[in-house]
Amino acid sequence: MKVLVTGSRGMLAHDLIPVLKGRHEVFAFTEEELDIISKDSVYNALNNIKPNLIINCAAYTRVDKAEEERDKAFLVNGIGVQNLALICADMEIPLCHISTDYVFDGEKGRPYRPFDNTNPINTYGESKLAGEKYIQWILDKFYIVRTSWLYGKGGTNFVSTILKLAKEQPAIKVVKDQRGSPTSTITLSNGIKKLIESGSFGIYHITDDSEGGISWFDFAREIIRLSGLKTEVTPITTDEFPRPAKRPRYSVLDMEMTRLAIGHEAKDWKAALKIFLGI
Ligand SMILES: NC(=O)c1ccc[n+]([C@@H]2O[C@H](COP(=O)([O-])OP(=O)(O)OC[C@H]3O[C@@H](n4cnc5c(N)ncnc54)[C@H](OP(=O)(O)O)[C@@H]3O)[C@@H](O)[C@H]2O)c1
Repeated sequence: MKVLVTGSRGMLAHDLIPVLKGRHEVFAFTEEELDIISKDSVYNALNNIKPNLIINCAAYTRVDKAEEERDKAFLVNGIGVQNLALICADMEIPLCHISTDYVFDGEKGRPYRPFDNTNPINTYGESKLAGEKYIQWILDKFYIVRTSWLYGKGGTNFVSTILKLAKEQPAIKVVKDQRGSPTSTITLSNGIKKLIESGSFGIYHITDDSEGGISWFDFAREIIRLSGLKTEVTPITTDEFPRPAKRPRYSVLDMEMTRLAIGHEAKDWKAALKIFLGI
């Protein structure tokens, strides 16, 4: 397939592009080369390439900053995605789009299924939901892939931040009362590749397997343990570490439908983390 990837300088794209290249002809665009907010920019790139599929890795991902940059978040994650969906409709090609666990409020008390009601509690989550809705209003053929707690070599993320802090400080404090599932960009890239080759359109969840969820504290402790660092990790509550954007308390994504539709077997989160750390 001729696959066009947007947001090619981002963390996910960094690992997704090589995973796709073995089997597909990949055309990757940075924001400067293809700005999804601009209809002209999108049409120019698409008309030149005439791809069989678009994978949208472009996004506004600054969760806290989005609270003060609401328009920017909605322009990229809402209108930008609408632009991509409109051209996909024109060209009669599918769109594969990446979304987030933050479309949920975290109050369900069990892993979220793709069919569960969304109810974002911060601006970033609202803007990502806008993108999901435009796709569903405009297109018949799409893959929406929700993921969570993403980390990879191609960007700053929780793992790289904890490693940096743990090397600089003898002790760190990490939130214990938010639970979710970490996801390696490698796991997600392999899942996306399988999905786009399946033709099984719909909304899917892809994360690593944390057997019902871990806390940021658990995640940090394991990062430090595996790295052989001696930094002390102390659990704290969300109230003790206030941030501009609210976070869902429990946002584990259920992957049953991903397994049944494309045979995707989730990878153990610790095994994925070891690979990332080169252990
Ligand atoms: N990171 C997470 O923890 C997480 C969790 C759940 C879901 N997700 C979703 O996973 C996807 C990939 O995330 P990521 O961590 O790889 O994000 P990322 O590293 O922030 O990459 C996003 C890329 O999009 C580019 N971009 C921003 N505005 C654009 C525009 N108007 N047109 C074209 N490109 C634009 C950015 O360009 P610059 O390089 O110039 O900024 C950046 O390279 C996103 O949809 C995100 O919402 C992420």
